[in-house]
Amino acid sequence: MIVIGCDHGGFELKQTLVAYLKSAGKEVLDCGTYGTGSVDYPDIAEKTCKEYLTGKYEFGILICGTGIGISMAANKINGIRCALLGTEYAAQMAKRHNNANMIAFGGRVTGSELAISILKAYMNETFEGGRHQTRVDKIHALEKQGD
Ligand code: RB5
Repeated sequence: MIVIGCDHGGFELKQTLVAYLKSAGKEVLDCGTYGTGSVDYPDIAEKTCKEYLTGKYEFGILICGTGIGISMAANKINGIRCALLGTEYAAQMAKRHNNANMIAFGGRVTGSELAISILKAYMNETFEGGRHQTRVDKIHALEKQGD
């Protein structure tokens, strides 16, 4: 199962990605927003990431206008490694090296065909572990440092 959330800037692309995922046989939990009215992306990041952290999901997707704000907010939440993606190569590396558990898109930046292609590239990869696991562990060690 995959969890997804967006603000108003990502609403259109969210609808496209949900439709794609369902057509690919995936179950999707849609955390909103459910229309084009203005909402605050940190609220959506919090809701979607907390849902992801319940442990029921393969990964999560976040979308705002640029993907910047919503990925920044997501990466403040312990346990989240959110990668803002704009290319298939970055998507492959986000999985193979960073084991990103949340991926972000800019709905006003990345067209729907490219976004689907990026999503497929991410889903087709596997985390390599080893030295990359050490580095991922070091990311989460930073969470414990506080201020
Ligand atoms: C909302 O207008 C816009 O600021 C938001 O979608 C996102 O791009 C922020 O990073």
